[in-house]
Amino acid sequence: MRKLFSMICLSATLAAMAWAAADEAKFVAAMKKIGPTCSGLGKKIKAKDASGAADAKELQGLFKESDKFWKAKKADDAIAHSKTAGTEFAAIHKAINSGDWDAADAGFKKAVATCGGCHGAHREKNADGTFKIK
Ligand code: HEC
Repeated sequence: MRKLFSMICLSATLAAMAWAAADEAKFVAAMKKIGPTCSGLGKKIKAKDASGAADAKELQGLFKESDKFWKAKKADDAIAHSKTAGTEFAAIHKAINSGDWDAADAGFKKAVATCGGCHGAHREKNADGTFKIK
């Protein structure tokens, strides 16, 4: 009985660890997508290219992934940065669709302020130039 119980505990722990690793992989994949999509959107806003609306929408969705990840880690500052980014990318999406490029530009500045804010607190550079989460 005891043996069975500890086996159940062990498999629950392993499942939880695998779950956490899968979540982290999803988050890192989202960041890898966020980088180029965000710089592309910046260029499109400058060029008043309305196809940026779709990028803004995609970024909004990617930051939902970030929000979920940090909620599980209970890191309030990172949750706040993720939410601000999501809100601003949603606003940019709307602004582009209504042709308000000044609002899109202002929203973009607010959205990218979250990148540095969160990276400074939660991203660490490895010696090989890759990143890790802290
Ligand atoms: C809530 C926190 C948070 C916010 C907000 C955030 N990031 Fe990140 N980002 C991270 C963390 C943590 C990592 C390190 C993860 C890793 O790569 O292992 C990271 C990694 C990255 C990477 C490197 C991915 C790789 O491994 O190659 C890029 C590019 C990136 N972020 C772009 C952005 C951009 C652009 C924004 C703003 C639009 C942004 N991030 C906003 C937390 C955040």
